[in-house]
Parts: sequence; structure tokens; C-alpha cells
Amino acid sequence: MESIWKKDTDPGAVRQLKGSLQADVVVIGAGMAGLLTAFLLKEAGRKVVVLEADRAGSGQTGGTTAKITSQHGMIYEYLTRKFGAEKSRQYASSNQAAIGEYERVVRTLGISCDFRRCPSYLYALEGEAAEGRMERLRREIAAAAALGIPAEPARVTELPFPVAGAEVFPDQAVFHPLKFLRGVRQEVELYERSGVQKVRDTCVFTDLGVVEAGAVVFAVHYPWMVRPGYYFLRMHQSRSYVIALNTGKALCGIYRDMEEQGLSLRSCGDVLLLGGEGHRTGKNKQGGNYEELARQGRLLYPGAREAARWSAQDCVTLDRVPYIGQLSPASPNWYVATGFGKWGMTGSMVSAMLLRDALTGKSNPNSRIFTPHRLNLKASVPKLAQHTGSAVVNLSRNLVPVGERKVCRHMGCRLNFNPEEQTWDCPCHGSRYDRAGNLLDGPAQKPLKRCCSLRDQ
Ligand SMILES: Cc1cc2nc3c(=O)[nH]c(=O)nc-3n(C[C@H](O)[C@H](O)[C@H](O)COP(=O)(O)OP(=O)(O)OC[C@H]3O[C@@H](n4cnc5c(N)ncnc54)[C@H](O)[C@@H]3O)c2cc1C
Ligand code: FES
Repeated sequence: MESIWKKDTDPGAVRQLKGSLQADVVVIGAGMAGLLTAFLLKEAGRKVVVLEADRAGSGQTGGTTAKITSQHGMIYEYLTRKFGAEKSRQYASSNQAAIGEYERVVRTLGISCDFRRCPSYLYALEGEAAEGRMERLRREIAAAAALGIPAEPARVTELPFPVAGAEVFPDQAVFHPLKFLRGVRQEVELYERSGVQKVRDTCVFTDLGVVEAGAVVFAVHYPWMVRPGYYFLRMHQSRSYVIALNTGKALCGIYRDMEEQGLSLRSCGDVLLLGGEGHRTGKNKQGGNYEELARQGRLLYPGAREAARWSAQDCVTLDRVPYIGQLSPASPNWYVATGFGKWGMTGSMVSAMLLRDALTGKSNPNSRIFTPHRLNLKASVPKLAQHTGSAVVNLSRNLVPVGERKVCRHMGCRLNFNPEEQTWDCPCHGSRYDRAGNLLDGPAQKPLKRCCSLRDQ
């Protein structure tokens, strides 16, 4: 179940770390966030080393739908209520700026990656309660416009189904994420299949060698350490599904239902990427998500042939804003970029710009809303209880006999079998393992122990 990006991109030759190196900054993780951060730091004159456990782009970046947009669902009215206008403007303007920065990098490096500008639409379905949806959408448009985004209402779209209305952001973009990364990776000092085993202060250890640097950036999707930072308390992962359909015609714009459970649509040539069916990772005992997407695809595009199907997951923070900046006050030389809530294309570029500035001593007026130090345990109690409630329930389910369970190597939650992907998934923080117990996704960093992995369902 490979994405269309992985199917048509040659990852190139592997260079592994050997021995000891010194650098100004070591970036752990070569997904979109890590490679962009490394590249912008290199442009700013820093010596950067990137260490990747697998291949560049092999993580969630390889499963994205690669819309580059500041239109992140119904976000701006919510942000303005929660953070106030000043910080919400930081979110809006840095995500808008990220689109232009992608264009600059594509042009500067001459990367051929199908980058194109296009409008982005957030649509309200017609039908029952449509007026209520439209009222919420009008408020969202007003909030986005008040923060400086040229958001407009739209009545007509190219979608093959009627909508009650939509919010449109002009001049957003799409690209081929792995062709783009192939261009960027050539510019940085990257070591693949060089997974980090431990970090002590600013010394980063792999099985093959050590890198000593002035600062460490964790761009590993979900930081694995329990302390400092307590990221396991503040993020869960959500998985979504994509099918690629040969529809024979292309949508010019990119589309997302305003409702969380609705569809996402974008074209890549005459292949349509239809996304949706999201759920908390580890909570998919029934399966049927691909079939439901395929059913909707058949209704919308009768006769279209399926070219690929895949799924991926992303980290969701307590307040829907990524954590970008110093990882914790207790570790002044550690930095982090995580929690992109399925908007990690602009999120990765925002991370790269903020971390470049933080690590080169430049102040960035947009940094405050993203600071990872914003965990206010007291104010977050209701949300934290809701978020960790699931984790506690899943930890307590470990009270079943050992032979009957598979237990996650991150913090010991009991795993659930995912019939859709034939994987063992952790409902606490989203680690995943294949049937043989090999690690697929973190925050866990180790495969299942043999005693737990050998008995299948
Ligand atoms: C179905 C789906 C569709 C999406 N579509 C969009 C979209 O259209 N637009 C958008 O903006 N966002 C989208 N997103 C979100 C976006 O894809 C992600 O936010 C983004 O790819 C995350 O990038 P990353 O670099 O943080 O993580 P990753 O790409 O996962 O990179 C992290 C890297 O760290 C490496 N790593 C981990 N541990 C170690 C270690 N110990 N040592 C060394 N390396 C390590 C991993 O191997 C991996 O390569 C989507 C998400 C999903 C699930
Ligand atoms: S991912 Fe944290 S316990 Fe499994």
C-alpha cells in the first residue's frame, strides 16, 4: 500500500554515518520538517548534519496529500477565541509566508516537483442543516479575513457534487513532496539508515557513530522521550486514508469538507487523491475505511480506476497548534518541530523558518503562538483529561494475562490489531508494528519483544 509519491520516486543511494562528526546543529529525522530546517540553517551559514533512521521522506511525509495551504479546516475563528487576535495573526501570517518560501526554494534550487499555485476551498455540503453550516462558515471567513488572509466566500466549485457554499483562499499550492525532498536532500549533509539511539546533552549517538553539535533538533514526528517536555501527555496521533483514482480529468483547486469527518480532494495530473475516514490511531478494530472511501469514489467518479491506496498519521496537539521551538526549558539546546495536525507541509516550513531564526539568534515575531513551553497544566486539565483518558484506559487494560496481549515498547500500552493494515497499533500515542513485531511508526523506538510479538491474532 504505497503512496503514488513513493511509487514514482527513486530514493537514490544511501550514505550512512561512520565515526565521529562535529556540527553546529544536528537534526534528527529527514521528513519534510527535518530536511527543510537543515536546508534553511545551511543557507544561513550553519554546519548541519541530518540523521535519519530509515530513508528521507519514508515517514509520514511519504503519505501526505501535499496541499500547501494556510487553510487548515475551521481554525481561525477557534484560534481567535482561544489565543486572541495577535497570536492568531502569527499563525495565519507564518503559514501564508510558508507557501511563498516553498516557491522560493523550488526556484532557487531549480527543483522539478510539479509545484503549482492554486486556490484552496473549504466547502459546506448541501442538505439537512446546511444553513447552520453556512453560518459557521461565514464566521470562519470573517475570522480568517480579519487576520490578514484574503479569504472570500465562493458559491461555485468544480466539485462533482453540489455545495451550499465555500471559503476560498487564493494562491495556495500543491507539489510532489518526494520529488521536492530529492532536490533538498542533495543540498544537506544527510546520513540515512543511521537511527539515533540516544541523546546526551548535545551528543547524539547512533550504532555507527556519534555527532557532537551546539544544538539538537528533534524532527522525528513524535519525540520519543518521556522527559523533558512530557510530549506523551500533550499529543495523540490520528490516522487517515487516501485512495488515488484515475478520473481522467483534473481539479484545478484543492478541497476540504469543513466538517472534520468529511472528504479531502486534490488532483495530481488526472489522478484524484480522495482522503478521509480519520480516526485516533489504535482505534480501528472494525476496518472498512478504504472500502468506505472507495464507495464514495465510485459514487462521485463512476468508472474511475483505483491507482493506489495508502494511509498515514499525524500528531494532534491539545490546542491544535504545533509545538515549534525550544523543546523544554530543562534542555536549552534541544529544539522540536511536531504536532502538525495533518497540516505539516506549511507546518514544516514554518518550523524551518522559526528554528533557523531561533538558532541564528534572530527574533521572529511569529514564534510566540508556537512555543512548546505553552503547556499550562492547570488550564489544560479538561482537555488533558479527555486526551489522556484514553491513554489511561489503555494502560489499565494491561491487567490481562501476559500471553493474551501485545504491549507497546514506548510506555507499555496494550496494542490493538488493525485489520485494515494488518498492523498492531497503540491507542495511547500511536506507535505501530507489523505482524512480525517490527516497528513501523513512533514514538516507540524499538520493535516488539519476541515474547509479545510472535502470537498473531
Ligand atoms: C493522510 C494524510 C494526509 C496529509 N495531507 C497533508 C496535506 O495535504 N497538507 C499538509 O500540510 N499536511 C498534510 N498531512 C500532514 C503531513 O503529511 C505531516 O504533518 C508531515 O509529513 C510530517 O512531517 P515530519 O517531518 O514531521 O514527519 P515524518 O515525515 O514522519 O519525518 C520524521 C522522520 O524522523 C525519522 N526518525 C524517527 N525516529 C528517528 C530516530 N531515532 N533517528 C533518526 N530518525 C528518526 C523517521 O524515520 C522519519 O523519516 C497529511 C497527513 C496525513 C496523515
Ligand atoms: S505509543 Fe506510547 S505507549 Fe504506545
